[in-house]
Amino acid sequence: MALPGKVRIIEVSPRDGLQNEKQPITTAVKIELIEKLADAGVSYIESGSFVNPKWVPQMAGSDEVFQQVARKEGVTYAALTPNIQGYQRAIESGATEVAIFAAASEAFSQKNINCSVVESIERFAPIMAAAASDHVKVRGYVSCVVGCPYEGDVAPQKVADVARQLFEMGCYEISLCDTTGVGNPVSVSAMLEATLQHIPASKLAVHLHDTYGQALANIYASLQLGIATIDSSVAGLGGCPYAKGASGNAATEDVIYMLNGLGIEHGIDLNKLIETGNFISQKLGKDSGSKVARAKGL
Ligand code: HMG
Ligand code: MG
Repeated sequence: MALPGKVRIIEVSPRDGLQNEKQPITTAVKIELIEKLADAGVSYIESGSFVNPKWVPQMAGSDEVFQQVARKEGVTYAALTPNIQGYQRAIESGATEVAIFAAASEAFSQKNINCSVVESIERFAPIMAAAASDHVKVRGYVSCVVGCPYEGDVAPQKVADVARQLFEMGCYEISLCDTTGVGNPVSVSAMLEATLQHIPASKLAVHLHDTYGQALANIYASLQLGIATIDSSVAGLGGCPYAKGASGNAATEDVIYMLNGLGIEHGIDLNKLIETGNFISQKLGKDSGSKVARAKGL
């Protein structure tokens, strides 16, 4: 199959990236990060989450982030919401879109959101109903689509089944997340092929962590199967506090560099993006996880 001519980047660093950092980050820095991303041409920014702050203290100030961030026209400022309580907080704070998150592994579901996969789907029903009446779009994540830190290998059929349930309940797009980054082009393609039996490529996204250095190879394999929406994170920030050993997401700078080489449109200014990744890395007191940023040394 020909590669897509255009790719949509879902930038997750303000949420998936910062949720995993030990060091507290001020609301002002979170806002500056989001504004810099928008200025670099990123049109979809997952800007925070409305989960229980006792579980993820790093996201505690998400209401202030959404209330205070300067909005750029055409940019979606999305929030992760685990239940109706989170959904209501997100909408009151000004989130323009929300994401719900289920897992393809029972043990991960219990550790991450304290309920089974079936219970999580039931918990999302009130969000879907409220979002439909508020005309808010809902994105769905499926975590642990290749492996689980507690259960090991995850069957492609299980992923396809959970993805289909989220899609049928009204999520407009399903993001398939290799949370632990154990996938390779063969296992990721097998998982995608199973899911593509139920959901068209235009409604799927990939969210691939780089724990084993496979994220870009896995993204390329996904492009070959017609996937044209990619979740990534500047400076490769990311990880899940409930997924032992999971390290960063695919670095957006590295994804953009590859897309440039492939001649695929994306609308993002690479130099501004590198400066943004360097900005947040410096605030976190660590080196950027983007190889492109390090090579360019801007
Ligand atoms: P629970 O303890 O089962 O919830 O947690 P509960 O309904 O029994 O409520 C317990 C307490 O939580 C109550 O407060 C509620 O008010 C409060 P108390 O009476 O004890 O003072 N509460 C909330 N507070 C604020 N906002 C809310 C909310 N809901 C309940 N929305 C819950 C269930 C889902 C809330 C909890 O497990 C939780 O917050 N989990 C969040 C886990 C998380 O954020 N994980 C990281 C994101 S997922 C991820 O990283 C993977 C992904 O990025 C994909 C990838 O990268 O691969 C998507
Ligand atoms: Mg992630």
